[in-house]
Amino acid sequence: MHAIVIVASFGDKSAAADGGELRWTEVDDPEPGAGEVLIDVVAAGVNRADLMQASGRYPPPPGAPPYPGLECAGRISVVGAGVTGWEPGDEVCALLAGGGYAERVVVPAACVLPVPRGVALADAAALPEVACTVWSNLRMVAGLKSSETLLVHGGASGIGTFAIQYARALGCEVFATARAGKHAAITALGATAIDYETEDFAERVDADVVLDIIGGPYLARNLAALKTNGRLVIIGAQGGRTAELDLGLMLAKRATIAATTLRARPLGEKAAIVAGVREEVWPLVEQGRIRPVIHRRLPLPDAAEAHRVMTESSHTGKLLLDAPAAGDASATGDAPATGGGPAREPGWPAPPPRRAT
Ligand SMILES: NC(=O)c1ccc[n+]([C@@H]2O[C@H](COP(=O)([O-])OP(=O)(O)OC[C@H]3O[C@@H](n4cnc5c(N)ncnc54)[C@H](OP(=O)(O)O)[C@@H]3O)[C@@H](O)[C@H]2O)c1
Repeated sequence: MHAIVIVASFGDKSAAADGGELRWTEVDDPEPGAGEVLIDVVAAGVNRADLMQASGRYPPPPGAPPYPGLECAGRISVVGAGVTGWEPGDEVCALLAGGGYAERVVVPAACVLPVPRGVALADAAALPEVACTVWSNLRMVAGLKSSETLLVHGGASGIGTFAIQYARALGCEVFATARAGKHAAITALGATAIDYETEDFAERVDADVVLDIIGGPYLARNLAALKTNGRLVIIGAQGGRTAELDLGLMLAKRATIAATTLRARPLGEKAAIVAGVREEVWPLVEQGRIRPVIHRRLPLPDAAEAHRVMTESSHTGKLLLDAPAAGDASATGDAPATGGGPAREPGWPAPPPRRAT
């Protein structure tokens, strides 16, 4: 099969623009073990974590495929020993620990979801990572309830567009930060938009729950924006990893601050999240109350271009990569790709450079 291989990354002087160099390359086919299925990938979703992996700042967890890609949609081609509930030919989408940027990927059966009715197979690649991240943090961690108020940072992101729709479907009032040019899109999803470049969100919102992707620079104002008994859930640190915390204000508000990552969770926790998403979120998608927000699709061999688009942040919602159709000769040759540009998210520990420079 072919996959997008990271041939150079952060610390390698050859890596284009420090964003890593991606190459569509022939690699060994993966084989499913017990409890796993093999999926022929139709489309893969792009996530900011993929950019960080390409730049060498977010290595895959042990046992994960080395190729980027945290979610995909496709057809099951092989079912491993002991798997029940899935058959070859089933159209599915899946939460991956990596490897979605490939023609085939192996995934534990517990991380596979059916394609929700009403969603096209290739569009379903936009759902697993954002659905599992948003549901696990807003419902499991923050206990978001209908009639509560949610503040989402980065409302136009893949995560943000899903979080707005999910919270609106629950019955919440939603505020979301974004640059002014993206306000129409997030207002259409049901959120009140706040221009983070010109307004102080802490003066606009009294929130029961804040879903944050910025980290350090927003910590004080996120706490200020919380109501008594409010919950702040941090899932990214795009602005920085460190900040001073006013414990007095936290005590006075009886506030809770949590921080999570999905990718590194053990399989049992991921399985519980996937099951919860199937039970609580998929019906909302099938009712049309949540839809995949897809900014643009690109061919999978052009993953570097998708990374460039995400780096410049001109998108609203998801970027998807379409796998070449079987037998598409034009897409089977090994293809060099340019770098994806810098992916700076200091929220993740930087691993050492792969080789001395
Ligand atoms: N912990 C986890 O398990 C987990 C899982 C998935 C994703 N995440 C995190 O969630 C975040 C979104 O991921 P994604 O893949 O959806 O990325 P994405 O689509 O590229 O979104 C990034 C967003 O950040 C926004 N942004 C940048 N600076 C901002 C600021 N100062 N205030 C408010 N918003 C700002 C951008 O909005 P503008 O264009 O308007 O600036 C953009 O919409 C990333 O930080 C990612 O690491 C975490």
